[in-house]
Amino acid sequence: MVFKIIFQSTSFAIPFFLTTVSLLIIHKFTTNYINQTWILFFMAFTIEDMATFCKAKSFVYPNSEIYGGFSGFFDLGALGSELNNNIKQAFWKTFVQGREDVVGIDGTIISHPKVWEASGHVGSFSDMLIYCSKHKKGLRADQIVEEVLDVRTDGLKADALLKLITENAEKFKVAGYELDDKISNFNLMFKTFIGPSQSDDSVAYLRPETAQLIFTNFKLIMDTARTRLPFGIAQVGKAFRNEISPRDFLFRCREFEQFEIEFFINPEEKKCALFKSPEKKFVVNILTEDCQKDDKPHYSISLGDMVNKKILGEWHAYWLKQYYQFFLEHGISPENLRLREHCKDELAHYSSACFDIEYKFPFGWKEIHGCANRGQFDLTQHIKHSKQNLEVFDENTQKKVVPRVIEPSQGVGRAMLTFLFEAYDDDKERGNIVLKLHPTLAPYKVGVFPLVNKLTDQARKIFDKLKVDSVCFFDKSGSIGRRYARADEIGIPYCITFDFESIDDKSVTIRDRDTTKQKRVKISRLQKILGDLLSGKTTFDKVK
Ligand code: GAP
Repeated sequence: MVFKIIFQSTSFAIPFFLTTVSLLIIHKFTTNYINQTWILFFMAFTIEDMATFCKAKSFVYPNSEIYGGFSGFFDLGALGSELNNNIKQAFWKTFVQGREDVVGIDGTIISHPKVWEASGHVGSFSDMLIYCSKHKKGLRADQIVEEVLDVRTDGLKADALLKLITENAEKFKVAGYELDDKISNFNLMFKTFIGPSQSDDSVAYLRPETAQLIFTNFKLIMDTARTRLPFGIAQVGKAFRNEISPRDFLFRCREFEQFEIEFFINPEEKKCALFKSPEKKFVVNILTEDCQKDDKPHYSISLGDMVNKKILGEWHAYWLKQYYQFFLEHGISPENLRLREHCKDELAHYSSACFDIEYKFPFGWKEIHGCANRGQFDLTQHIKHSKQNLEVFDENTQKKVVPRVIEPSQGVGRAMLTFLFEAYDDDKERGNIVLKLHPTLAPYKVGVFPLVNKLTDQARKIFDKLKVDSVCFFDKSGSIGRRYARADEIGIPYCITFDFESIDDKSVTIRDRDTTKQKRVKISRLQKILGDLLSGKTTFDKVK
């Protein structure tokens, strides 16, 4: 018997021991190349896991799946469309309706092709393409270099990328690439034809950014919408880019949504009247150009200090703060956010300075927001190409000017991915996933459950009342524990259970998603309590 136990445990222990030792040896020898990514590989919730979760819970589906999918395109499901709308509404409420100095527009997806010639997109909105004979297609050169050599390639030109590829030819071979010795530029704009003829004269483009419609309408808005400098114009809508290698789920798609603001300022106005003490004291994590060149990590600094050190101007700092704060206020942890300064050699053709807000995804720190100083580039280009005078009168200085522009540009899909990753919590104790989305963003705000089917009619009455104010979910199937778990998994912040006692005491149980705490409250006060909870006026602990 003793022998049997020893034999059984040994037969298990030996392979276990050997596997552990092998993993430690692999780790020892690969640390220099891939840091600790293998550990993450075994442990972390990956972008692929997120795509699977999003499909299973009706957030996001691969487009045209019945035909095998369509790379770079995604459809939003029942919950995804709610979440997406909530994110857009939160941006719109905060940055348009909540301000007196920003107005919105809703422009077309296709516009006059000259718009894109003037903006520089026809000439230079391209990525670097390299042909791989193993894959039998062109691939994005910078992405392959990042993937194989584990280096950042921001700002590297074709020559520098080719040099890295040649110097590390063996590594690319091992990684399964057989690459050409030349890199070409590939324009990312989708082309279409207007009208029945399909010639060069009828070519038009699907907009690759929402910004240009704002520039072309700028003067009209200034003349008709009672705006005065400094002020902003916002737009939310689709943008299209024929990405060479769409990847990382919603992160890099061919069709996506942007929420962009072009904020117009008198070019002489260097000081920002809105950059006051709270903005100056606001602390951010920053990866400066110097950090990137010296291979140093990001550090914390106040925006006031950044401006004093001339890392950026006041208006630029002001707008970065608004979005950084937006993410913090909607549940993103400070340690998962940082700013990254664009290096001089990676700036887009229109920008003289640019800072990204980056989020720490499982696949690394990645851009979720770009805030560029576009200067007078776009308006000057449109003046040149349209031969229209787009100067405007500044009432403060009583002079005509071509304004300069700060552009906060937000991808809606990347914001969604950020909120989903931050919210996702695989709660082992509870035994289910808890999606801790901020109540403003959560697709459903309230779940209403009758304890048993017999109580359905009474519970429905409560549901009908609550759904007037909030998007609610009615669930009567399965045990109450199972229903709570289902609600947790799709991020419902509060659940209401109508039980037998409710008939007599005219009360229900309200359960808090994040703590699982429960309280008994009068049905007559339910709407008010939920309203206060969802708007952040009160916390669950304070509910009486
Ligand atoms: N108007 C400036 C502009 O479009 P950008 O850095 O190219 O600047 C702004 O894009 C934001 O749009 C990015 O920070 C990102 O959130 C989003 N975005 C850009 N390309 C994207 C893509 N292929 N898929 C999803 N989101 C994208």
